[in-house]
Formats: sequence, structure tokens, C-alpha cells
Amino acid sequence: MKLLLLAAVGCLLIAAATAEVMFEEKFDDTWDKRWHKSSWKQSDGSAGGFTLTAGKWFGGDEAAAKGIQTGPDSKYHATWAEMKKAYTNKDKELVVQFQVKHEQDLDCGGGYIKLIPASSKSKMKDFGGETPYSIMFGPDICGYSTRKTHVILPYKDKNHLVKKDIKCETDQLSHVYTLRLMPNNTYEVYIDLKKVESGSLYDDFDMLPPKKIKDPKAQKPEDWDEREKIADPEDKKPAGWDDIPATIVDPDAKKPEDWSNEDDGEWEAPTIPNPEYKGEWKPKMIDNPAYKGIWVAPDIDNPEYKHDDKLYLIKDIKYIGFELWQVKSGSIFDNILVTDSIDAALKFGEDTWAKIKDEEKAAFDKVKEAEKAAAETKKAEEGSKDDEDDEYDTEDEDDKAKKDAPSATLEESADEDEKDEL
Ligand SMILES: *[C@@H]1O[C@H](CO)[C@@H](O)[C@H](O)[C@H]1NC(C)=O
Repeated sequence: MKLLLLAAVGCLLIAAATAEVMFEEKFDDTWDKRWHKSSWKQSDGSAGGFTLTAGKWFGGDEAAAKGIQTGPDSKYHATWAEMKKAYTNKDKELVVQFQVKHEQDLDCGGGYIKLIPASSKSKMKDFGGETPYSIMFGPDICGYSTRKTHVILPYKDKNHLVKKDIKCETDQLSHVYTLRLMPNNTYEVYIDLKKVESGSLYDDFDMLPPKKIKDPKAQKPEDWDEREKIADPEDKKPAGWDDIPATIVDPDAKKPEDWSNEDDGEWEAPTIPNPEYKGEWKPKMIDNPAYKGIWVAPDIDNPEYKHDDKLYLIKDIKYIGFELWQVKSGSIFDNILVTDSIDAALKFGEDTWAKIKDEEKAAFDKVKEAEKAAAETKKAEEGSKDDEDDEYDTEDEDDKAKKDAPSATLEESADEDEKDEL
């Protein structure tokens, strides 16, 4: 047992030892020497930024727990760093991992990371939403409708979002997101070091056009019968059917006694609907023996389709960055790793996030308990003052905050983003 354990640890160590680390960032006082503030959105005053902090609750050593936090609210936050060299994942895994804590209880905003190719070099000064990238990966939250983990892979100048819905974490604690791309054109997504999704790049993304399409030249044959039911040719209109009138003279009507033909004209009995009348005759409908179903064009090989056995391949990754719009800011990013080994990434996660998460949760619970106690004290004080007005006041404020939150704007811009990307 001990031997086995030793062997397992040995394997991990070897895997970790042979792994190539393209980028690693744990954030400390020197972070802004490596990370550049983008000038994106600065001219119109809508640019936010990042500050180094461990946040209101954290686990372990405060210095080690520090990451970079978005702020202020309702701004675009963009920063980027350069990797040691341009990296191409030919015949190798590519693993991107980072940790994020939405301390603010993110209502609407991005929490994803981007890898960016060397070819975007001239655009990095204003790195932002429009800068071409190689991978976009991580959580995106807006209300209850958008709570997903994006995996977007550009292919031939078009961005392709994974078709599977991968849920993301929405609480106020640190979580680790890991994307693994493999040379056999499969991918895996891990959250908190556990695999939550996996699949084929062919099946789960629309990078390649479909293999088969409906033949656009095919035409429905003239004699193709799409009528499921037809009138029964055997069915005949019963004799006398058309002789039954729709209305008849009311047999109960009587000429009023004081009716004067001279003054009032010839008396005519009123008519009423004929209870015998059966309406217009229609033949019975029967199954059409010539029915062939709804015609569909036959499938043919799509002339646009060209197989690519290297969908996973991403050339010359050179930069890494965040470009995020958030209504409520405060997300803290930390412990970024780009490597060619899932084992190395998971070990990195074990050594960082896994070691602090329980303590962080305990610290979070303590803060929340203190906040609850403070709120109760305040309520008790206000209660002693009197009255119901206070309650109405708070409700009004809540409503106002809801109305003011430009979440619709973000939904729109997120949709637009996606359209651009897709
Ligand atoms: C792809 O490669 C990974 C890692 O080597 C392996 O675990 C997985 O089973 C492979 N998948 C397929 C479909 O070949």
C-alpha cells in the first residue's frame, strides 16, 4: 500500500517534472511589472482596472491569497501579460487553469480568461473585447439566465462556442477552472479539479461545416403526393340533400289579430332555422393511398466540407489577458497556469486552491455571520424608533437598485459579443 502510494506520488512528480509551464502567475507586489493595463475604453471613461488584494475573506497566508480584483462597478476591466515565448501545442496537450472568487456576488459580468496569439501584438496596447484571441475560457454570469462556463475556440476567423451548456459556480468563494485540449481533438473542462465536461471538438463545436447537406439542386417530383387525407371518391351526396332549405317559415307564428292588410301590407310569417338542415354536404375524408410523406431533398456530401485532423492545434499563443465587463465588480483572479500537462495543472491546484478553500469558507461564514448580527442589531434599533415607513423605504431602494442595474445592456452586449464571436 505504501509502495503503491509512493509509486503514485512518484508518477505525479515525474509528470509534473516533465511538464512544460508556459505561464504561471500567483500575483504578488510585483504583478504590475508583468501585467499591463490596457488603454481600451479609457478615452470615454468606462475603463476600470484591477487591484491586488486577498479580499474580505481568504484562506491561508494573506500575501499568498492575493489576486487581482476588478473595480469599480459597471466598467470594462482589461489587463494582459506576455508569455515567455510564443507557444504552439502541436502533438501536445494544452491546459489553461485559473482561480476566481466572485466576492461581490457577481450579478452580471464576465469571469473568463483569454489566450491571445502573437499576431495580435500590435493590438495589445488597447487589448479588449475586439482583440483577436486563441481561447476564451471561464465563467459568465448574468441574472439567472446566463450562468455558464464559456469555451470558445476561434477557427478560420470565426469564434465557436461549445454547444454544451457547462454550468459555472455562482457563489462568493474561490473556484478553479481548467480547460484541457488534447491532440486527439478532444477537450475536458474541470471545475475545482473535478472533470465536469468532456467531448470531441468535432461534435461539440461547429468549427467544420456539416459533412452532409440537403441537395440544393434536388426538386420535388411533380407526381409526389404530400396529401395525407383525401376526399373519399366512393362517398356520394345523398339524394335530396340540397332540397332541405336552411330556414323555414315559423309554424307557430300567427298573424296578429289587429293586423290590417290594407294598412300593414300582406302579413308574412317570420322564418326560423330549419332543424332538418344539415349544412353543406362534404365527402368523408380517407387516408390517401398515394401519400408519400412530406418530400425532403436527399443528403449529399457537402462540397464545403474539408476534414481537418488538427482542430485542437493553436499556433503561437503569446499573451494572456482578462477583458471583462461587470455590473457589480469585485471578482478576484489568482493562480493562473498554462501548461502541457493536466497532471501538473491539477497538482498546481492541489497546492494552491485545495489548501486554502476550507479556511476561506470558514472565513466567509464568519464574515456573513457578523454581517447578519450587525443587520439584526440595526433592525432592532430601528424597530425601537418605530415604524413601518422604514420598511417601505428599504423596499423602494431595492426596487430602484434593480431598475438602475444596466443588466439588459450587458445582456445585449454579451449577445453581440457572442454574435461577433460565433
Ligand atoms: C484522447 O486522449 C486522452 C489523453 O491521452 C485520452 O484520455 C482519451 O481517452 C482520448 N480520447 C479518444 C476519444 O481517443
